[in-house]
Amino acid sequence: MINFIPEAEELFAYTQDFRRDFHRNPELGFQEIRTAGIVARELTDLGLEVTTGVGKTGVVATLEGASEGSVMLVRFDMDALPIQEETGAEYASQIPGVMHACGHDGHTAIGLAVARILESHKQELSGTVKFVFQPAEEGLGGAQAMIADGVLENPKPDLCLSLHLWNDKPVGWIGITPGPAMSASDRFQLTIKGKGGHGAAPYLTRDPVVAGAQVISALQNIVARNVNPLESAVVSVTSMTGGEAFNVIPEIVTLKGTIRSFSPEIRKIVLQRFEEISTGVAEALGCQAQVEVWPVTPAVVNDLKVSNTIQSIARFLYPEDVIDNQERTMGSEDMAYMMEDIPGCYFFIGSANHEKGLDAGHHHPGFDFDESALPRAAALMSSAVVDFLR
Ligand code: NI
Repeated sequence: MINFIPEAEELFAYTQDFRRDFHRNPELGFQEIRTAGIVARELTDLGLEVTTGVGKTGVVATLEGASEGSVMLVRFDMDALPIQEETGAEYASQIPGVMHACGHDGHTAIGLAVARILESHKQELSGTVKFVFQPAEEGLGGAQAMIADGVLENPKPDLCLSLHLWNDKPVGWIGITPGPAMSASDRFQLTIKGKGGHGAAPYLTRDPVVAGAQVISALQNIVARNVNPLESAVVSVTSMTGGEAFNVIPEIVTLKGTIRSFSPEIRKIVLQRFEEISTGVAEALGCQAQVEVWPVTPAVVNDLKVSNTIQSIARFLYPEDVIDNQERTMGSEDMAYMMEDIPGCYFFIGSANHEKGLDAGHHHPGFDFDESALPRAAALMSSAVVDFLR
């Protein structure tokens, strides 16, 4: 195994400068023009073969090793979120209402550091590294857009790796979970149609507001009573709309929300019960429910062999660290689409620091992480790539 910690630490200022520059200039999904431009320029300067405009604003760069071998895809996401930053950091966002509140600024900078390290070691590589800088991870379909533009072809990757800085855990913690690590996500809309009327004469109506309220309560039974308690699932109704006036019972109430699950079996049970309960309860109250469900992402399922290898590399690099093989989250990740066809591993690098107050959660306006996590992530990713391509 190769220890890239010294080289990653040497690149700390380089990585931090880019991270802070991206943080000051965040761009929403599919609008990462400036970010992608900087990435493309850096990788071109390094001598990599660079393609831009993959999946609208994505960048792909290939690094050829000294001899033939496997193709390894390493993916970093670049997009920010529509959040007004409240960190007060000197490198805070200069764009009103847009913020890197998930750490993708760090991921992009880590990717540049990894490219730099691996380029200087290309003589030791047998095979090809395919660097993927992905737009629009935050629910806008960036991974699918890149796949549609052929990111998984010419050359077709044999393995894929990606990572996330993880503020739920402190620096010194690394999460590498074999098997399911992040949940599948579905989006739903439930339209409950009744019969509207005067608020003072409910007996002449079929009230979709009451039916909607009962449906929301009844849906809680799915996780509580239909899912094996040793498995996991989430059903969250996050929006309820209908009616305007205080004295009018509306015709229609609309519910929206999300369903999360890890396995296809549990997902099937949840979706089936979701439909049965929604239509059954609405009907019992004289209304009709129309159920629409759209898949958002599949589950991130880490390959066992790849995960075990990364775990041993992490243990070799950071013997003092907590190497956690149990971390799973009901959050979702569109890297799952790339991992459907290609064995790989998506791992987490602890990035919080409670003493420095850098521990707000992802997607929070106060989100910021300890930048000492940057070289740690770059070292582990670089060491992993070299280990697989030797
Ligand atoms: Ni994220």
